[in-house]
Amino acid sequence: MRPIQASFPAARFRRTRRTDALRRLTQEYSLTVDDLIWPVFVRDGVNVEEPIHSMPGVLRRSVDNVVKAAEQAAALGIPAICLFPYTDPSLKTEACEEAWNPDNLANRAIRAIKAAVPDIAVMTDVALDPYNSNGHDGLVRNGIILNDETLEALVRMALVQADAGADILGPSDMMDGRIGAMRDALEAAGHKDVAILSYSAKYASAFYGPFRDAVGASGALKGDKKTYQMNPANSDEALRLIERDLREGADMVMVKPGMPYLDICRRVKDAFGVPTYAYQVSGEYSMIKGAADRGWIDGDKAMLESLMCFKRAGCDGILTYFAPAVAKLLQDG
Ligand code: PBG
Repeated sequence: MRPIQASFPAARFRRTRRTDALRRLTQEYSLTVDDLIWPVFVRDGVNVEEPIHSMPGVLRRSVDNVVKAAEQAAALGIPAICLFPYTDPSLKTEACEEAWNPDNLANRAIRAIKAAVPDIAVMTDVALDPYNSNGHDGLVRNGIILNDETLEALVRMALVQADAGADILGPSDMMDGRIGAMRDALEAAGHKDVAILSYSAKYASAFYGPFRDAVGASGALKGDKKTYQMNPANSDEALRLIERDLREGADMVMVKPGMPYLDICRRVKDAFGVPTYAYQVSGEYSMIKGAADRGWIDGDKAMLESLMCFKRAGCDGILTYFAPAVAKLLQDG
């Protein structure tokens, strides 16, 4: 619905922008700490915090320090943390068995967080790439990424994550049929309350580069992910994927990357009205942070503006590496 609008001079849009009070009164959307999911990188060791060259300010943390980070996040009011493991190259195989090791790094981190900070929601990543010697999200045979064989592996992975206490599973692999396969397996195993936030509309994007460094997958990756991740030129296909995943049992859906895909977020929210999230991915973070560190833009303002825009686009929340920084900023007013 388009409001009836008088014309100039009866209509002066600057009237409602004149003071801070009027601007606040007429503001349509707002960003709060409740909108944040914080992606965190886990590595092995004790008391380790390791910088990631291509993501200034982001760390790989050992499990003990991930627990501390979760405590800090909870104290700031951040509702959820999302874990990504940096797996030692010696544990990567073509069969990806480490993915469903109940004691792998990610599962140890889930247990440690749930024991120390039970109230923060723990989200996982369900995809084989951290464990795969060829860097792909699925099993590979003769250079082909296998769909149905991968589903079995993803289901095993999902079940050990649920056993470890994960609140939200985040399948980021883009195989067809994974949500239904995981939902059936979760129900059968008695994990009826474990939520699935599906990376439903995940594009084959150049903006994931720094993340692949962060989890040590860049060197391993052979080829690209275009046979399973979406073509950035497509929009209707995103709606079909979201509908499919909702039918298969997803509770929440995601669009990824974020800022270049806000049109998709808006379409998804308008079409389905379901809990909709966007992932402001590593490359988006590093572009803002890199420019800010050089004094080319105001980092805090660019961070706040970028996150507010996700709300305007209809998102219920954002996965962002800025989560603790923006939470502090919002807390300080
Ligand atoms: C892979 C995965 C990726 C990201 C999250 N899960 C990268 C990829 O698909 O290659 C990217 C996140 C980011 O760039 O911040 N399962």
